Amino acid sequence: MTGTAFTPRVFSGIQPSGGLTLGNYLGALKRFVDMQDAGTHECVYCLVDLHAITVWQNPDDLRKQTREAAAAFMAAGVDPARSVLFNQSQAPAHAQLAWAFNCVARMGWMGRMTQWKDKAGKNSEQASLGLFAYPALMAADILAYHATHVPVGEDQKQHLELTRDIAAKFNHDFGVDFFPITEPVIDGPATRVMSLRDGTKKMSKSDPSDMSRINFSDDADKIAQKFRKARTDPEPLPATYAELKDRPEARNLIDIYAALAAKSTDAVMAEVGGQGWGQFKPHLAEVAVEVLSPMTGEMNRFMDDPAEIDRILGEGSAKAREISEPILAKTYEIMGMIAS
Ligand code: TYM
Repeated sequence: MTGTAFTPRVFSGIQPSGGLTLGNYLGALKRFVDMQDAGTHECVYCLVDLHAITVWQNPDDLRKQTREAAAAFMAAGVDPARSVLFNQSQAPAHAQLAWAFNCVARMGWMGRMTQWKDKAGKNSEQASLGLFAYPALMAADILAYHATHVPVGEDQKQHLELTRDIAAKFNHDFGVDFFPITEPVIDGPATRVMSLRDGTKKMSKSDPSDMSRINFSDDADKIAQKFRKARTDPEPLPATYAELKDRPEARNLIDIYAALAAKSTDAVMAEVGGQGWGQFKPHLAEVAVEVLSPMTGEMNRFMDDPAEIDRILGEGSAKAREISEPILAKTYEIMGMIAS
């Protein structure tokens, strides 16, 4: 941490690049709501449409997915009266600060990002420049609000380390104590929800197999079917969580259950240890439906009135600009830009 006392403030975001998954919900969205409800921090939550366009997005789809993501946030419990909820492109300080950070961050730092390597793969010459610079925009998202805490899933840890490096280098290069060294908040049993088809791969909206994930839009039958068909080993559930160490698929289902039921993994093992899959999977599906169905219903209700969603996002972006613009202006001043 720097010596400056920063207002406790949470920032986090989700890409509206497809429907949200159970991974997004348990790893991020549910925890956004918990942090909002704790009332200890100002919360700023963002649909990162500028991040989404680092890979091709059909404009009509992007519009629809952004509204759907906003509806999902609200259905999950993000309250626009208590948290700032907006889409990234409408607060220009993100892109403006990202440019400054492009000049602070080093090519080598970006090249080491595992997400860049995974997404660009062998075809990096054809990847967009934006995909390479993506983590500098993410640092700008966070630091444009002087956010002190960022709840994310495990896969974003490296990007948050880079955000800390950018803040520290900026502070050092300009001899200031201006940007906070943000703390990642990666906790709970579901910081890395795995694919239902392969326990070594993350559950992801971009996985070609729809059976690998639970979507916010899935109905009760679909959820039950996906859990029933989820890949597992043939052994029954053991008595303790530690015994799941080398059973990634089984451990994943237990983690999901624990997160959905808001129980510790030890409490879950005490409850379900010894059960076979024929007994456990329907029970898991039931709990998932209990948690997800009301949210899906609520999300569809919001989607019936897209103009209202746009109005809410508009109000959110006005609040976002109020916080981020003075921080951007001060950053430019520190760097030597003349304000005209
Ligand atoms: P994105 O859109 O891929 O995912 C949004 C959030 O969901 C979490 N998540 C998961 N958590 C557990 N298990 C999973 N299988 C799973 N899949 C996704 C992610 O960790 C993330 O918290 N770069 C970010 C978005 C972003 C951001 C930011 C986040 C842009 N700017 C500033 C925080 C702060 C991303 O692509 O997340």
